[in-house]
Amino acid sequence: MGISGRFSGMPGAALAPAAAFGSLAVPGRTAARSPDVRLRRVAATGTRPKPHDGYPCPMVTSRAPEDAYTAEPFVPSRGGLPALRRAAADCRGCPLHRDATQTVFGAGSTDARVMLVGEQPGDQEDRQGKPFVGPAGKLLDRALAEAGVDPGEVYVTNAVKHFKFTRAEPRKRRIHKAPSLRETTACAPWLAAELAVVEPELIVVLGATAGKALLGSSFRVTQVRGTVLEEEIHGRPERLVPTVHPSAVLRADDREAAYRGLVADLRTAADTLG
Ligand code: URA
Ligand code: SF4
Repeated sequence: MGISGRFSGMPGAALAPAAAFGSLAVPGRTAARSPDVRLRRVAATGTRPKPHDGYPCPMVTSRAPEDAYTAEPFVPSRGGLPALRRAAADCRGCPLHRDATQTVFGAGSTDARVMLVGEQPGDQEDRQGKPFVGPAGKLLDRALAEAGVDPGEVYVTNAVKHFKFTRAEPRKRRIHKAPSLRETTACAPWLAAELAVVEPELIVVLGATAGKALLGSSFRVTQVRGTVLEEEIHGRPERLVPTVHPSAVLRADDREAAYRGLVADLRTAADTLG
């Protein structure tokens, strides 16, 4: 199924109905200066960009596009992964693009059988522009190899495509900060578009943020890790194997036990693929 089919049910959140602007008309002003008349003229001359042109709707020009908290207007309606990646580079669907270096889009083949979904890029990923290239990525690569998942069959991405961080002091190390539900929801159209194009046989959910992004806010990784879930996501039946985030393994008191748990869950994923 193409992206447009997947997305037909999703409202363009940044698009306010024209009728809403009627209330902006100031009584007593001349018709020519009334905002709703100007808007109608724009519509009549057909110059208004369509929602997927990559530009925010002019009806919200008084606000920055990131204030709408949705990537939807930036997601192209056609094209494969290269078109998505190009468009995502200019996403301003939420404020996270302001402080980050670049968009970190997913990596891997359109034909990948498995999609791994993490939380958001870390410091290294933000600098290099690729997902899972830092310490968590190295650990994940090792665990995938041990579980028998072929790296050539994997597409790796994140629920949120920009690095969110704080600094204790100016010019000091950037410290990862968990994305909010609002930011995760804003970024979800990119993940939906990746799923529509790659159509993986299985999704490996790495940690709580990815789980909530795909399965809703009631997701609890401890309750479902290592099991095969079947859920409808964006109108398509998907199979998912949730597990812990590789960064949680790095932070665990008993790293060895946490790592073995991750590998065991990834083995379930490998067995499910067959
Ligand atoms: N953690 C993630 O969730 N994603 C990355 O790409 C790197 C670290
Ligand atoms: Fe766009 Fe996602 Fe980046 Fe926000 S985090 S600006 S929605 S790509």
